[in-house]
This record gives sequence, C-alpha cells and structure tokens, in this order.
Amino acid sequence: MGETSRPWRVVAVRRLSEAQLAELSAVADVEYFEEVTDENRADFLAALSRAHGLIGGKLELDEAMLTEAPALQVVSTISVGYDHLPLAAMNRRGILLCNTPNVLTETTADTAFALIMATQRRLVELANRVRDGEWQTHVGREHFGVDVHGKTLGIVGAGRIGAAIARRGAMGFGMPILYTAASSKPELEASLGARRLELDALLAESDIVCLSVPYNDDTHHLIDAAALARMKPSAALINVARGKVVDEPALIEALQRGGIRAAGLDVFAEEPLLARSPLTAMDNVVATPHIGSATHETREAMAQLAVDNLVGALAGDGPLTAINE
Ligand code: DGY
Repeated sequence: MGETSRPWRVVAVRRLSEAQLAELSAVADVEYFEEVTDENRADFLAALSRAHGLIGGKLELDEAMLTEAPALQVVSTISVGYDHLPLAAMNRRGILLCNTPNVLTETTADTAFALIMATQRRLVELANRVRDGEWQTHVGREHFGVDVHGKTLGIVGAGRIGAAIARRGAMGFGMPILYTAASSKPELEASLGARRLELDALLAESDIVCLSVPYNDDTHHLIDAAALARMKPSAALINVARGKVVDEPALIEALQRGGIRAAGLDVFAEEPLLARSPLTAMDNVVATPHIGSATHETREAMAQLAVDNLVGALAGDGPLTAINE
C-alpha cells in the first residue's frame, strides 16, 4: 500500500479482543463499533468515509457505502465466506478483500458432524422429551433413530471443510464417502476411498447429504425441489454452507411430506431465522444459529488472522490470506 496517507484509519466492527484492538492501534487510528445499529449507523458511516481499512465479522457493506468511502483500501472480514460483500465493486475500486480460511475448517467440520449425529439419533427431539418430563416408559420404535456409522455420506463441495467432514465420516464412523467437486481430489480418494460423482448421482446414493459449498450464482438454490426429489426418503440433509444454497420452501415441503427424513441446518435463507418459520417447529429438523465456527478458540483465531491480514496489508509485507490480491 502507498505511504502517502499515514496514519492509517481503521474501522473495526465486532469480535475483536482488547489485545487485537491494541495491535491495530499500533499502526492505525481505530474507531471500534461493538455493533452497528440503527442508532449508531450514521457514526459508523462517517467513520467509514475516513477509513483506509475495515475489519469485522458480519460486515454490512454495499456498493453505495463504498462510494462514500473514498480512502478505503482493505476490507478484512472475520469469516471465510464473503458472499455478503460486494466483491465486484471492490475489484473495480481496487479494494483488497481478505478472509479467514483454514483456521475454522476443523471447527466447522465438527459442527457438521454434530448436526449429523443430532439428526440421525434425534438428539434434540428426544432430549426435549426428557426435559419436558415426557420420559415415562422405555423408548420404543417410534423414537428410534438411524445409525450414523456405515451410512453413505455425500459431501457437496469437497473443499477444505468438506474434506474435513469426509475425514471424520470415513475415519471415525466407517462411512463410505461420495463427493462433488470441480475437479477430482486424489488425496481424498487415496486416503478415504472417496468417490467423486455428479450431484444427481450423489443425491440418489447418499444416506446423509452434507452441503459445504461457497454461496454464489452457481450454487444459489443448488438444492431445489428437483434435487430434493432425487434424495432417498430415508436421507438427511445437513447444511453448514449458506442458507440460499437450498430452496428453503422446497426443503420445508419435502420435510413435511416425508420426501426426506430430516435436516440439520446451521444456516438459513434469512438470518436470524424467524421464530414463525416452519423449520423451528419440526421434530425432524435440528436448527442451530449459524454456529459453524463459533467456538472460543476458533473465533479468536479468525479474529487474529483478520487483524494480521489488515496490519499486513496496510503497514506490513502484505496480507496472509487475500481473495483478490
Ligand atoms: C464463515 O466464516 O463464513 C462462517 O460462515 C461465519 O460467517
């Protein structure tokens, strides 16, 4: 970056520790917003209009806001996904975008597996029965779950997170692994015996379909009514990717009529999920509030990588993980 505009000015939003804010403050004047709300939005926009760097989780930024931020050079998002950011407009302006891959891979795969376990074994539904005092006799067939071990696990999008889910399935639970990917993954095939299939064949063969693709124009409603119809009625759908990868009304319809058996969902078309969504009231749905990477350790590591990216981009040798360098 150029040397002309020191000191750097940075706007930071959410999820940064005091130590991380101190690191930023060593190279920049930092304006920190714990949250951007209707009350402080004008202050946030004023700060952004002066800023060279923007860092935070769940950043709300659109093309119009970029126009009002003429000095902005770097956006460092505390997330691996960046579908919420206007990348094309940033590219036109030459604004660098950094994200936080790798550090959340294993934790997000853990979340996928938690959802797999919970949906197969009906953990939430049955634990709620205990909590509600409804455990009066031994559990009968109507409350039996479905095995996890040995079931065929279909991974839609075998990138870093998909591969980590596949490892858990194959090595921990003896699951045959199917996957889709733009190109074959020889390491997954050699180490796990994974088989690459076209999406339609994967949907038809899998007992559990796990979505771990980035959200973009190509993956919008990738799982629509036709895709759901290809799944086994006994199958479960797990989504730790983005809500809009699935046509949510079509999923609700499939779950309601038994087109598929269950769903474990960490992401939704609109977040937070409205309490009145049918998904919140279905026993065969386990819904979690977008917690894929939400552990103390991983959120700390993500925030640190985002800080390192921003400091590296503005005042150092460059970012560690940039999207559009
Ligand atoms: C990510 O990092 O993209 C997670 O989904 C959190 O938004």
